[in-house]
Amino acid sequence: MYSRIAGTGKYLPERILTNAELEGMVDTTDEWIRTRTGIERRHIAAEGEYTSDLALHASRQAIEDAQLTPADIDLIVVGTTTPDLVFPNVACLVQQKLGVPPVPAFSLEAACSGFVYALGVADQFVRGGQAKRALVIGAETMSRIVDWSDRETCVLFGDGAGAVVLEATDEPGVIYSNLGADGNQADLLYAASGVSRKASQTDGFGMLRMKGNEVFRFAVKTLERMVDEVIAENGLEKGEIDWLVPHQANIRIIQATAKRLGMSMDRVILTVQDHGNTSAASVPMALDSAIRDGRIKRGDLLLLEAFGGGFTWGASLIRY
Ligand code: COA
Repeated sequence: MYSRIAGTGKYLPERILTNAELEGMVDTTDEWIRTRTGIERRHIAAEGEYTSDLALHASRQAIEDAQLTPADIDLIVVGTTTPDLVFPNVACLVQQKLGVPPVPAFSLEAACSGFVYALGVADQFVRGGQAKRALVIGAETMSRIVDWSDRETCVLFGDGAGAVVLEATDEPGVIYSNLGADGNQADLLYAASGVSRKASQTDGFGMLRMKGNEVFRFAVKTLERMVDEVIAENGLEKGEIDWLVPHQANIRIIQATAKRLGMSMDRVILTVQDHGNTSAASVPMALDSAIRDGRIKRGDLLLLEAFGGGFTWGASLIRY
């Protein structure tokens, strides 16, 4: 038993925040943001619009694309680091809003790797026979934890949601997942808010904090090691992967990973310019974009990868 991608969807909130607008908010320039990150704009959730609302739009699309109805879904897994509430978890909120019957529904927190982790977990449920049609979501409202006075981080992040429906099949599908984490580097990237541990004034009242330069170096090194493992453990030749669907944090990190894989940038799905770093939402949104515009076709071999706070990282090798 394997799982395959039966449908995809995505949602970006209506409000667009451009680099030019950021020039009026912090000491930055459009040119700096474009050349250092590749980002041109990001979307910001409206007041009263929450992570589960973004996830709901993406999920409806994915379920429709799979030619199913919410009643067919028998598992919901959400990767998010910006849940609406402490509980109920975002998956339960989506379940209620979609009208999915009582099935297992949970969220997991792995920051920007959240979707790849969620996909790996849902795939195990399907392989184990515990689910036949899983809804897997990456959804975030990063704008709610960004410190809008910190130019080193506020230019990078945005809001969005992406979703896929995984369906049980007898041919892969999801071929292989590679998940990893290293909690020793927690102080390089974190959001100092919590329930058990309250944010202090010096922590910045729960805002996202990052030592960008060090995160950059660690991300490049880790992703290079991980894609080497994917290639080796699956007996692949470098040219065999049709599309790289990377986490969209910084175009320079993506270029480094593509180079390591010997892939030209025209085989890489790049959406960072349109929405910045949307954390767990970025991989499923990029996937959906490239399927809908016809670049990714049935039968193509895809490598999804992500790196994020924790640190966490993950890859998924998929025959679409
Ligand atoms: N506008 C203008 N200047 C800025 C700026 C901004 N928004 N943010 C930082 N700078 C300045 C810095 O203060 C620094 O100035 P200095 O040289 O006078 O000290 C200079 O730009 C270079 O900063 P540096 O941090 O070395 O830049 P960088 O090339 O590493 O790029 C990031 C910064 C954040 C874009 C990059 O480090 C990055 O993408 N890191 C990883 C981010 C990430 O992926 N995080 C999430 C993991 S999923």
